[in-house]
Amino acid sequence: MTMLAPSVLSADFLRLGEEAAAAASAGADLLHVDVMDGVFVPNITIGPLVVKALGRASKLPLDVHLMIDRPERYVTDFVQAGAACLTVHEEATVHLHRTVQQIKEAGARAGVAINPATPVGVLADVLADLDMVLIMSVNPGFGGQAFIPQALEKIKKLRQMLEAIGSKAIIGVDGGVKPGNALKVVQAGADMLVMGSAFYGSDDYAGVIRKTRENLGE
Ligand code: DX5
Ligand code: ZN
Repeated sequence: MTMLAPSVLSADFLRLGEEAAAAASAGADLLHVDVMDGVFVPNITIGPLVVKALGRASKLPLDVHLMIDRPERYVTDFVQAGAACLTVHEEATVHLHRTVQQIKEAGARAGVAINPATPVGVLADVLADLDMVLIMSVNPGFGGQAFIPQALEKIKKLRQMLEAIGSKAIIGVDGGVKPGNALKVVQAGADMLVMGSAFYGSDDYAGVIRKTRENLGE
């Protein structure tokens, strides 16, 4: 079954605890948490303190997406704050292999995200070490952007690369995913879908999960 991960970026930050708990009640599998530093991406969001608080508010595993420059500086902080999976951007860290090892040693699952302009081939030599690859289907920084269709070919290519090495790493897709396009993203090879505005912008969270599963035939 496809994993569905609402992104709290589009939640009501004044009621973050309730919003995190609501994702669990709606039937989500993970809670996606977008960390932005105003350097790697133009926006600024939250840090480890808030991640830790989110962990108390929801029983869902925290899928923490670091959109920060030189994420190696903060790996330990975010894992200690409760990240079950910690994702860094390939474009943001010079020694990606070392950063991936650092995440695993700290005790979290290791994910690597790639921007729309980054080819999946750059991950070839670290793929065997990863638990997740996050294909960005928007340029990171903001919720509510339109899905970039070229992501579909990248997902297919990555699926082939993972099969070729017998990797069990999952493919996550982040940006512009909604119930209406979920099927083509999953048919391309995605295992996990992040949904920000499509989930938290709705007035029926459980309905969004139900509709997505229905469209996926799950
Ligand atoms: C974008 C973030 C996404 C964002 C997705 O930089 O990484 O996780 O919350 O939001 P939607 O689903 O609205 O595109
Ligand atoms: Zn994200």
